[in-house]
Amino acid sequence: MEIKSYLNEQRQRVEHRLATLMLAPIGAFAEHIEAMRYSLFAGGKRIRPILCLAGAEAVDDDEAVGQRALTVACALEYIHTYSLIHDDLPAMDDDDLRRGKPTNHTVFGEAAAILAGDGLLTFAFELLSGPASAAIADQARLRIIHTIAHAAGPLGMVGGQSLDMLYEGQPVGYDELRRIHRSKTGALITASVVCGALVAGGNDEQTAALRTYGDHIGLAFQIVDDLLDVEATTAQLGKPAGSDLQSEKATYPSLFGRDTSRTMAREAVQEAVVALANFDHRADPLRSLAHYIVDRNK
Ligand code: IPE
Ligand code: IPE
Ligand code: MG
Ligand code: MG
Ligand code: MG
Repeated sequence: MEIKSYLNEQRQRVEHRLATLMLAPIGAFAEHIEAMRYSLFAGGKRIRPILCLAGAEAVDDDEAVGQRALTVACALEYIHTYSLIHDDLPAMDDDDLRRGKPTNHTVFGEAAAILAGDGLLTFAFELLSGPASAAIADQARLRIIHTIAHAAGPLGMVGGQSLDMLYEGQPVGYDELRRIHRSKTGALITASVVCGALVAGGNDEQTAALRTYGDHIGLAFQIVDDLLDVEATTAQLGKPAGSDLQSEKATYPSLFGRDTSRTMAREAVQEAVVALANFDHRADPLRSLAHYIVDRNK
């Protein structure tokens, strides 16, 4: 399948629903909403929502299922965008460019940026638990909310971010580095695919296979993010290249070098594809997405 046109098509669906669900910048909270919208609509590859849609499609390619998955997909993007706003703060990675634009805190100030992140995170759960997701059966919906909360929380993304900060400028071993990457980035990526499967009514075996797929591509995604930090340009990335070196981050290229890191990312992608062995052609988008994740240049 042609991954470029698939990505474009899915991205358009996601953009449209993101805009429909997002609060309008009017009324008493207009300024706060404007700060959330600034980062949300600055661009972004929308990989997590697309993975959620592809995870649903792998289980059931019915159009109605895809429509139900879209709201969950958007909730994941709100949470991801929050994580980027906070990740860029002076107290964290202290970066001034994101998605090709000045970072949220440089435009709105630190307090407003922290609150924009808080707003996006909380709004995601309002969407998942409210009328926007009412078409998903309650039992599945509760599992989805729990899966996302766990992945985004202290034993997932936030925990990973705290380890990432802890290891700045510190020697790191392989196990610890893999833990950082799996939690700060892999957890939400895995949850994206798994929640797609849950929306589509996937059975335990399917959900477990998609979890394994997600674990592998999630790790690969962050290894490649580390590689792009040293190999790509700021213009290409829309975020400052070389930021990891400057912050003395624990990264794959710093521990293993670039060639070995790329090999490790490719191996992870191979394992991800193997995990899809029991799925038919409806998992082709997931197969292509796995390859896209290591081949991407931004
Ligand atoms: C960047 O994520 C942060 C990581 C977790 C590596 P993306 O590379 O998906 O960033 P956007 O959403 O496209 O801006
Ligand atoms: C970020 O990792 C992971 C998040 C949870 C946001 P990075 O700090 O490497 O992400 P970038 O490179 O700034 O996008
Ligand atoms: Mg970071
Ligand atoms: Mg960063
Ligand atoms: Mg990075």
